[in-house]
Amino acid sequence: MKLQRVLQYAQQLLKDSVHEGDTVVDATAGNGHDTLFLAQLVGDDGQVYAFDIQKEAVDTTLLRLLDHGLEHRALVLNKGHEEVANFVHKPVAAAIFNLGYLPGSNHTIITRPTTTLQALQDLLKLLKVGGLIVLVIYHGHPGGKEERDMVMDYVRQLPQKYIHVLKYEFLNQQNDPPFVIALEKVKEYPKPEIVQ
Ligand SMILES: C[S@@+](CC[C@H](N)C(=O)[O-])C[C@H]1O[C@@H](n2cnc3c(N)ncnc32)[C@H](O)[C@@H]1O
Repeated sequence: MKLQRVLQYAQQLLKDSVHEGDTVVDATAGNGHDTLFLAQLVGDDGQVYAFDIQKEAVDTTLLRLLDHGLEHRALVLNKGHEEVANFVHKPVAAAIFNLGYLPGSNHTIITRPTTTLQALQDLLKLLKVGGLIVLVIYHGHPGGKEERDMVMDYVRQLPQKYIHVLKYEFLNQQNDPPFVIALEKVKEYPKPEIVQ
């Protein structure tokens, strides 16, 4: 038995919650690895919405999809994920965030607490019952701990009647290893939404 590494575990969670025909979101497209993974899961009848504020990330993601002939399954937007509610109007089966900076690129362009929380709140409303939001939280870079703490404060107070919150973390690794937070919607929010 080998414990799944953090990124493996995040992808396993996606695999277990996404089916052909689903609508899903990659909130931080970056180099497009998760966008491609999701595009493979949703099939030709599904739809991936991928967001990134860096044009470079959008181009890399599109190229990766093209390389695999899967560009028709994804809409790759050069927009912040805080705008998700303007673009996604269907129930979402799964969403993934990789917080932090784009590997191999400008380390000062990072995800930020306010926009991350806005996207999380909107995605929780869009999420269907049984759907999952997965966050891989990198917190070793400047600004990372502030974002980690705000996300953790937010997810800890979510009412368990509606959302189950899981943390997957290796406790004895050095140098601020990333960890996974998963949010599962177990019951639809009442209207008007009481969960903010
Ligand atoms: C850790 S990287 C993502 C890695 C990616 N999942 C991959 O497979 O390569 C984080 C990405 O979030 C992007 N980002 C930062 N702020 C954002 C925002 N408000 N909305 C969407 N993407 C954002 C950065 O440009 C960066 O590409």
